[in-house]
Amino acid sequence: MPSKYYVETYGCQMNVADSELVAGLLNDSGHTRTTQVDQADIILLNTCAIRDKAEETVHNRLDQLAQLKKEDPSRLIGLLGCMAKNLADSLLERRPYVDLILGPDSYRRLPQMIQDRKSEHQQLVDTTLSRNEVYDELIPSRGDGINAWISIMRGCDKFCTFCVVPFTRGRERSRAVAAIVEEAQAAVASGFREITLLGQNVNSFTHDGQDFADLLASVAQLPGLERIRYTSPHPSDFDAKLLTVMAHYENISNSIHLPLQAGADRILTRMNRTYTSEEFGTLVGLIREHLPDCSLSTDIIVGFPGETEEEFQATLNVVKAVRFDSAFMFKYSLRPGTKAAEYSDQVEEAAKQDRLERLIELQKGISLELNQAYVGNRVEVLIEKESKKSSAQWAGRTKSNKWVVFDKMNTNINDLVMVEIDACHGIALQGHLVGNLEEYNAVA
Ligand code: 5AD
Ligand code: SF4
Repeated sequence: MPSKYYVETYGCQMNVADSELVAGLLNDSGHTRTTQVDQADIILLNTCAIRDKAEETVHNRLDQLAQLKKEDPSRLIGLLGCMAKNLADSLLERRPYVDLILGPDSYRRLPQMIQDRKSEHQQLVDTTLSRNEVYDELIPSRGDGINAWISIMRGCDKFCTFCVVPFTRGRERSRAVAAIVEEAQAAVASGFREITLLGQNVNSFTHDGQDFADLLASVAQLPGLERIRYTSPHPSDFDAKLLTVMAHYENISNSIHLPLQAGADRILTRMNRTYTSEEFGTLVGLIREHLPDCSLSTDIIVGFPGETEEEFQATLNVVKAVRFDSAFMFKYSLRPGTKAAEYSDQVEEAAKQDRLERLIELQKGISLELNQAYVGNRVEVLIEKESKKSSAQWAGRTKSNKWVVFDKMNTNINDLVMVEIDACHGIALQGHLVGNLEEYNAVA
């Protein structure tokens, strides 16, 4: 019997894309989506296992859902994604009210499992990882945002020693270029102006002799596609060919997320990151040679096992030298089952916290300086949503991935507009409209 389902998504963009796939599957099976959790017959949490905090959030949410289940035991609760894969056994034991547990490669089975669970009196679990599941030909049910997420490859073979992803998402596999281009074309036809190509290791994409640069070039040629982003690449898989493609096509975003993780070579080796800090610096130089205005963001972990104060200083030094536009900064979180969890020289919580605060302080100053350099410039902005601070203002992003906030005037979400930057006090730039882009181009 068709039901109302509710999906809540935690973690990375890949999970956002996976939730859209799941929604597509459930809609096709006759279920309908609700945004009200208490109205739902099926409640799904798409979970993340990257750090202990992410897991804790889901555990807290499950505690709340236990109450809803008590009120109406016919409700189904399903746990999807990385935590499902990683913690299936303990979840089964600790949380008997969870009905379904499905890992990232098992979503095709969800409609059937929902049906089965209604007649069977036991929890149903499928966390098998696949070597070839890429969910080709499934049509995601996308949200009403301006960006269409398109997953192009799944899994990760890099085995960074801190990371649980290779265990939760399994081996790397890529989709066919034609299938991806077709999906991108359909997204553009249904009104999306921006596409983000997704993969745990997006630039190790390879299919039938075609690499990530080939794929990006094919997607960039689609008529009507204004912006293409991609995330997350691995520094070791970058090459000049990819940068040449990025420089060649106007509609490819000139921003790159380049995860550094650490600045000291001994730590990079222990992390199994496969590059030295010097090689990372050389790559940054190459990027700036090909794409002089490209913005750079990064991920950094502090307090990896064995990291000394001097080694942390090496991270600060790389941050000072590269001057990233922005950074996601994390305290190392021990993930059971990973190599780094076995290292005996774990760093004290207090030292991790102290290093994180110092790193954030440094990065904040750099981000502000780089953003202030935009004041007085005119930038193209794709309007994404209402500003959090005022309902009279929009928030949108530049091609270089900077957030810009400005008065709405007579513009709408999904418009491409020209904005002059007046000020910057933090992450977002503040500006005023100079015009709709088409009008602006006509006058200029
Ligand atoms: N602890 C802290 N941060 C982690 N990341 C991945 N695993 C861990 C961990 N165990 C960070 C990395 C990665 C980002 C997605 O999450 O910086 O690039
Ligand atoms: Fe995790 Fe490293 Fe793979 Fe990224 S490249 S998903 S950090 S193992």
